[in-house]
This record gives sequence, structure tokens and C-alpha cells, in this order.
Amino acid sequence: MNVLLIGSGGREHALAWKLAASPMLTKLYAAPGNPGIAREAEIVALDVNDHVAVAAFCKDKAIDLVVVGPEAPLVAGLGDELRAAGIRVFGPSAKAAQLEGSKGFTKDLCRKYNIPTAAYERFGNAADARAYVEKMGAPIVVKADGLAAGKGVTVAMTLDEALDAVDACFEGGFGAAGAEVVIEEFLTGEEASFFCLCDGKTALPFGTAQDHKRVGEGDTGPNTGGMGAYSPAPVMTPELIERTMREIIEPTMRGMAEMGMPFSGVLFAGLMINEKGPQLIEYNVRFGDPECQVLMMRLKDDLLVLLNAVADGQLSHMSARWRDEAALTVVMASKGYPGTPMKGTIIRGLDKAPEGVEIFHAGTAEEDGEIVAAGGRVLNVTATGRTVTEAQRKAYEAVDVIDWPEGFCRRDIGWRAVEREQE
Ligand code: AMP
Ligand code: GLY
Repeated sequence: MNVLLIGSGGREHALAWKLAASPMLTKLYAAPGNPGIAREAEIVALDVNDHVAVAAFCKDKAIDLVVVGPEAPLVAGLGDELRAAGIRVFGPSAKAAQLEGSKGFTKDLCRKYNIPTAAYERFGNAADARAYVEKMGAPIVVKADGLAAGKGVTVAMTLDEALDAVDACFEGGFGAAGAEVVIEEFLTGEEASFFCLCDGKTALPFGTAQDHKRVGEGDTGPNTGGMGAYSPAPVMTPELIERTMREIIEPTMRGMAEMGMPFSGVLFAGLMINEKGPQLIEYNVRFGDPECQVLMMRLKDDLLVLLNAVADGQLSHMSARWRDEAALTVVMASKGYPGTPMKGTIIRGLDKAPEGVEIFHAGTAEEDGEIVAAGGRVLNVTATGRTVTEAQRKAYEAVDVIDWPEGFCRRDIGWRAVEREQE
């Protein structure tokens, strides 16, 4: 099979690495890709916003499957346009991608289908939103409705913070994404990421993980796209997985199908686990980044076979098997992140990683034969082990041989699981 992978981050490098291991693969192309992905795929200069050009490329190269990594092209309808041109796609339609593209859409779905989630209201103007915040009090959570590159959520511990967040949304701080806001109840508990492959009818559980969103050790400092992750998530017991499927995923699949927008692709549920059980915080319509990196290290089965089954609506015949090991990834970021990261600094020692450790490229470029930093999150140093503790030790050993003075990472990725393992 010829496959085109869309995306350029660590998530897509991990997908490329796993797709490249498939005996079914003839040729892998990637756009826009990165220097790590280039080891597994032929990089093509395609503008992924130009859907007509992507379709023409697929026809020209006889692409059998397009795998879309990030959410933005899905929300923009790339999947629909490729399918209309007769090209098979792993990834939802634009309508189904509203599960990530509109927080209000997802909250209304939860209300209609009785899916456990934080209590909420939707607002289209600042005055009503401010009045609601004042009535409910803090802590409270303010969210821009649309895609805001992970920056649209404010978990406000004080009333002033919440009111400022409302104003920021309606003053255009998040562009069109903030024209509407969702204000919701503040939930406490332990967060977990839960993944399912979905083909419109069937949902197949596809692994659990936990990530670390804050930039600083001890989960402090500003939010980021994720500074590290590990899988499986110990909090997701078989019983909680079963409840999540029954109370959250299955009603979502049923609801989406009833509304004429069946969901096909990977559904990533961000969960809060508390005394009531699993609560849905949000959906994403793509793999997590960096959660995907740890899932791919643990997946025993052929990823291409599974993604094909999703595209063909044949998932009910499939299962997914996982290595009986933990995987952990440490994000190395460029100094300045999540503010303005330094760019162009040289990274050395990438070829010295110990056996069994994978260094996925997230934000790198090649300049004069050197790998340089080209983004905020730059590398994902990923290892497996019998326990999270062992995977963590191996990942940091590999981090320590990377020669990149302008990079930094958290030294405590996996702390919660490591503490559990020491009990
Ligand atoms: P999101 O962008 O929706 O993933 O939200 C970012 C982070 O905000 C989540 O990972 C949670 O840590 C936090 N968050 C979102 N909604 C809530 C909520 N209702 N209660 C508490 N924390 C929340
Ligand atoms: N790591 C969180 C995300 O991909 O949204």
C-alpha cells in the first residue's frame, strides 16, 4: 500500500515509525514532515491547506490511504474532500470533527445523551457570560468554543481571573474561536487520556496514557501541549475502561450516527476520574501528542492494518494487542517554551541513544547537515520498561547523552505512576 501521512510533529514521527514497520506498506510519503520522519518516509512539499493539491498528489502517486495526524486539516474538511475524490482516509469528516472543533457542540451532545461531564452553559456575549460567572463563583472554567491551539482554556481559581478570561475571549484574543464561550463547573480528580479507534459504528479501545501539561516540575507553571507522557495509565482499571466505554464512548458513537455524522478515526477522550467515575473533560479527534508516541511503542499489532479497517468500516473484526510493558516519553523543549522558544540551536548526540530508546522529532529542521531546533517542543525521548520506573530511568539516560545546551525538560515525568509503583 502507498500511504500519505499528514503532519510534522512527534505524533506523526511515531506514526511514521510504526507504519514503516508494516509488511503491508509499499511506500510512505509525508507532508510537511520533519527530519525524523524523513528517515521513514519520502517528504513531499505539499500545502496541506490546499485540499485540491493533496487530492491530485494522491491520484498521481496511487495513494491507498491518507493518515491525517493533526486536528486542523480535519476540522477544515480535508477528509471530506479526499473521500469525495474517491481517496480512502483515516480521520473524521468536518462535521464529526466538531467533537474537537466546538466545545459547545460536545457539551450539548453530552447533555442530550446523558454523558457524564462538568455542568456548563454556552454564551455568545460578554455581559451574559460575566453575569453567569458572578452567579456561580470561582473556581470555574472558561473555554473559547473553537480551536485555539491549546490556549483557549482558563481554569480560573478566582472570580477576577474568570472575568478576565471571558473578556479576553470576547475581545478577540482567540479570533473566531472565542466568539462563543463555554463556562463550566471546575472538576477535581485525576486526569487520564483514553483512546478509541472508531469506524462510525464500532469503537475499539486503543490504549490509555497520562500526560503532564504544565511546563514545570511538580506540575507547576503555565500549560503546554504536553511535557511528557506514559502508558498505560494506572488509574484506568479494567472496570473504569468498561464504564468509560459504556457511559461515554458508546453514547457518543450512537449520538453522532443518529445526527448523521458518524465518527470515523481516533477519538481521544480527556477524562477526569473522581468519586463519581469517569467524567468527560474534552474530546480530540486525533491522537494525543505526546501520548501517541508511548502508544506506538507498546502496540504489538500492525498499525496499517488497523487504520485500514477504520477507513473501511471493518473494525468489528479487529482487536488491538499491547506489549506488557510501560512506555514513557520525555519532551525536550527549546528554552523559552511555552513562550517564544529559541530557534536554530544545534542538537548533537541523537545517534547515541541506547538500544530500544526512540527519539521522535517534534520540532526540528536540518541545516547544513546539522539537526537544529525549529519549534517549542523539539524531541520526544521515548523508552519502554517492565515498569514506569524502569522506562523513566531509560528515557532520562538517553536524555543525558543528548548534547543540546539550549534545550530543557522536566525531570519528573511519570512521577505519579512511579510513586504508585513504590507503594
Ligand atoms: P482542554 O484544552 O480542554 O484539554 O483543557 C486543558 C486542561 O484544563 C485540561 O487538561 C484540564 O487539566 C483542565 N480542565 C479543563 N476543563 C476542566 C474542568 N471542567 N475542571 C477542571 N479542569 C479542567
Ligand atoms: N497531549 C495533549 C494533546 O495532545 O491534546
